[in-house]
Amino acid sequence: MTARKSYFGWMWVGVSASLKHHRWPLRCINATSPVRRQSVRVASDRGSIRPYPSLQDMTDCLNQADLVCDFEAFSKVVRTRRSVRAYLPEPVPVDVMDACLDLALLAPTSHNLESWQFIDVRDGAKLDLLRHCCLDQPATKAPNLVVAVARPDFWRSGRKLMLAAIAREETPGRLPPLMALKYQLQIPLIFMDGPFHFLAPLKRLVTWGIGLFTVSWRVEVGRSGQVLWATRTTALACQNLMLALRAAGYDSCAMEGFDEPRLKRLLKLPRAARVVMVIAAGRRAEGGVMPQYRFERERYVQRV
Ligand SMILES: Cc1cc2nc3c(=O)[nH]c(=O)nc-3n(C[C@H](O)[C@H](O)[C@H](O)COP(=O)(O)O)c2cc1C
Repeated sequence: MTARKSYFGWMWVGVSASLKHHRWPLRCINATSPVRRQSVRVASDRGSIRPYPSLQDMTDCLNQADLVCDFEAFSKVVRTRRSVRAYLPEPVPVDVMDACLDLALLAPTSHNLESWQFIDVRDGAKLDLLRHCCLDQPATKAPNLVVAVARPDFWRSGRKLMLAAIAREETPGRLPPLMALKYQLQIPLIFMDGPFHFLAPLKRLVTWGIGLFTVSWRVEVGRSGQVLWATRTTALACQNLMLALRAAGYDSCAMEGFDEPRLKRLLKLPRAARVVMVIAAGRRAEGGVMPQYRFERERYVQRV
């Protein structure tokens, strides 16, 4: 592959790789948020209380000792996570939910633009209406419902936050020189496509045209492309949230069965927002899980 051909690919890989190692500037911004600043305490599975590291502590875990993880413990979290449809009335305490949401927000996020939003609905009247919007399905009887929303429109504010964080970076060499340029030029180039996305077909044509001659990054454009973009990131955070709840001794059920327009009206969500899923949360009651079916790995996993 010639240098010219791989230019777009490498620019992306380079910038993403460096971003991955430099998530920390966001901490400067997040440090202003009271929820993230405090170190929370979480009830463990057995009911005891242990200190839980704050978001900042976790992102700073960079030495070798901190990188050692317990595969068995993680397997247990993954294996015991089930879609639970019957719950005990005890709600997930706010501090536990915050700790789990903080872990959700550590999921990978495209361009580090955090195109997600989570609404932890606690108000009793709103909860009842939300249950109805979710067709009153069994899992909605959970004491807690968290609405996971994809926010394609967050690219603008996310870009500003990133630019501010980059500008605040004080240690020379921690960020590559192209980093600011990515947020000044590349991000608007990707996401700006005019009123009603009227430039989207043109952008699609250009990327596909380039693709006829060389490797071309076929960016997701237009309304549907941006929704897909934001949904990918949000769905990853949803899985983090469900696993975090499990690790904290709680259970969950992802739900996509809902009336989205009504739900958006209930939560006063803007037009650009898309509800990805509603996550029921609480402690499982007896008989809350159905048998789990998964089929042969060969059907879903290939090695080439
Ligand atoms: C995107 C998505 C949407 C889902 N929607 C619903 C739903 O509306 N209602 C429900 O009871 N379960 C829902 N589920 C749960 C699945 O039915 C469940 O994950 C599947 O049957 C496997 O069971 P397990 O999660 O216990 O392994 C959903 C799961 C996903 C990933």
